Amino acid sequence: MLLLGIETSCDDTATAVVEDGRRVRSNVSTNQDAFHAKYGGIVPEIASRQHVALLSAAIEDAVERAGTTLEAIDGIAVTRGPGLVGSLVVGVAAAKALAFALDKPLYGVNHLHGHIFAPFLDRDEDPPYPFLALLVSGGHSQLVDVQSSTAMRIIGRTMDDAAGEAYDKTARLLGLGFPGGPALDKLAQAGDARAVRFPRHKAEPGSLDMSFSGLKTAVRYFVESDEGASAAKEDVAASFQSAVVEVLMQRLDAAFETSAYTSVVLSGGVAANSALQAAVREWGARNRVPAFIPPPKYCTDNAAMIAAAAAHQRDAALADALTLTADPNLPFELAVR
Ligand code: KG4
Ligand code: ZN
Repeated sequence: MLLLGIETSCDDTATAVVEDGRRVRSNVSTNQDAFHAKYGGIVPEIASRQHVALLSAAIEDAVERAGTTLEAIDGIAVTRGPGLVGSLVVGVAAAKALAFALDKPLYGVNHLHGHIFAPFLDRDEDPPYPFLALLVSGGHSQLVDVQSSTAMRIIGRTMDDAAGEAYDKTARLLGLGFPGGPALDKLAQAGDARAVRFPRHKAEPGSLDMSFSGLKTAVRYFVESDEGASAAKEDVAASFQSAVVEVLMQRLDAAFETSAYTSVVLSGGVAANSALQAAVREWGARNRVPAFIPPPKYCTDNAAMIAAAAAHQRDAALADALTLTADPNLPFELAVR
């Protein structure tokens, strides 16, 4: 069973062919960073225009690399939200046109469900339910209770910035360019995490929500201070990173107490972070539950994860009509639609 995945929710034009919901036959992604870097962030208008320019070739490329043909594909999976509306509509329109022309089923996928199933790509085991997912990306930071592929619930979320956003903004303060998460990660590896004690957000009793805006502001004040001016960037990066990781791990601890979870999943762009990966692995070992973390190519936005999530929808007979629309604010919850 082959699904073609299309992901254009933000600034990566991504396509993939996935077999039986997990074996990645091809995974193509064109990064638009070069077009956005000089603006210090993603420019939505540029992102949608680039998707229009790149998507057709990216679809052909994914099909060819998978050693198959469009006619042999069993369904079309596309991210329908959340994301940038102008970017989403390009992928959704292409997917609908393909589904119509080829007379194949269409699966509109929630981008975040894709991230949750990313760690199971290219692996033999099925997701062990119920599991806890820590989903951290440039747009989202949330804890998800995953009871089954069609029963997922957000139990904790950021009240302001996403973890990746905090990384990117702090990286900009340190002059590391955009997107700065990976550069900050690298810099932090040479720094002392105890050099500066940045604030850690404490949750209200009974809440699993988190906040990163106070941390971001504290880093800015520090960098602009006399002490900060002479501090090593490596130390600031490592101290910031340890504050982020500590907040996330504290929420993971608290969430783990709420139900009998069999495993933990770390996913989203920030899941590529070395300190966070190490902390989650150590946490899994301590709590005696397996930790599933995707390789970097499946941490950041990709279309293979969209096809993987669609395979679960296919199993649950959740195909969409050709009236499917992009929804930039697509709600997370999926009971059975
Ligand atoms: O999931 P993703 O590709 O896009 C969204 O859906 O947002 O995540 C991108 C985010 C960016 O904020 C980027 O800086 C961050 O993930 N990121 C990292 C690392 N690699 C990517 N943050 C920290 N450490 C990394 N190694
Ligand atoms: Zn994402």
